Amino acid sequence: MKVYATMKPAPGLLERLQSACEVSYWEGEGPTPHEVLLRDAAEAEATVGHYHWTADLMDKLPKLRLIANVGVGVDHVDVPAATARGIIVTNTPDVLTDTTADLAFALLMSVARRVTEADRFIRAGRWVPGGANATFLGRDVHHGTLGIVGLGRIGSAVAERGALGFKMKVLYYDVVRREDLEQRFGYRFVDLDTLLAESDFVSLHMPSLPSTYHMIGAAELAKMKPTAILINAGRGALVDEKALIAALKEGRIAGAGVDVFEQEPANPDNPLFKMENVVATPHIGSATAATRYAMAQLAVENVVSFALGKGPLTPFNPEVLTHLKRQRQES
Ligand code: DGY
Repeated sequence: MKVYATMKPAPGLLERLQSACEVSYWEGEGPTPHEVLLRDAAEAEATVGHYHWTADLMDKLPKLRLIANVGVGVDHVDVPAATARGIIVTNTPDVLTDTTADLAFALLMSVARRVTEADRFIRAGRWVPGGANATFLGRDVHHGTLGIVGLGRIGSAVAERGALGFKMKVLYYDVVRREDLEQRFGYRFVDLDTLLAESDFVSLHMPSLPSTYHMIGAAELAKMKPTAILINAGRGALVDEKALIAALKEGRIAGAGVDVFEQEPANPDNPLFKMENVVATPHIGSATAATRYAMAQLAVENVVSFALGKGPLTPFNPEVLTHLKRQRQES
């Protein structure tokens, strides 16, 4: 089976792919240019990497049967279009859960304890006798109330950090109730309005879907405490960024930690980057060497398993597999 990788596979993973497939890959910087992809992936039945897959692009590569996405979120892949074309999409759940939860918590702590602001202060040489006030009074994280919007894998991992490590009271809102976790960790299931009104920290972990687009806008921000901090290490589309900027400017919430943006890469002129009470990172939730390797490895294993006829390990649209199986049985 021919495979095209939109990024150079890490050492060990190229050999693993080659053990079952004929592999070509993009070696340049940044995303594979379209014309290169159309030329070099023309015969590919599978592709691996993190790429923006549109219906139009799928139509131009008619041999494609598998898109092995390196990442758990697949919002940059038109999954309904892939499903309609019988293309399996796989993602990389689980392997990045704790790493991404660590980053969400790092943002929470950095904003609460003004870490990056204090770092800028000291680097600017402003910590001098009689100089500007260097007390940097922040907010306690321990024993605070943590509101988790989306108690899936990553949301749960953030909640556990809060409940077990920082003795926080955890509220959560989701479309699915997790009574098992409520009993185990004492979480309280509430509606979104209650969560926004009662939390000291609100951390967003919903997937990006039409139904979650701008789920935090002006009205929701207005329901938060003026002392509250918003953390978004989920997806940029969850938050109406203009409304967030306005709420921060007007002091309607106390701060924000943001790893994901409505536009990525974010515009350097984004007003969030000029605010002292904002900690911003460039979508690095899963960015540790070990986790990025584990994600690429899982994506590669999806391809290898598919090439060996065993079916992918973590399909995102398993209905394609069911359909293919039925077709095989009928023929
Ligand atoms: C994911 O896996 O979805 C992370 O956000 C990295 O893209």
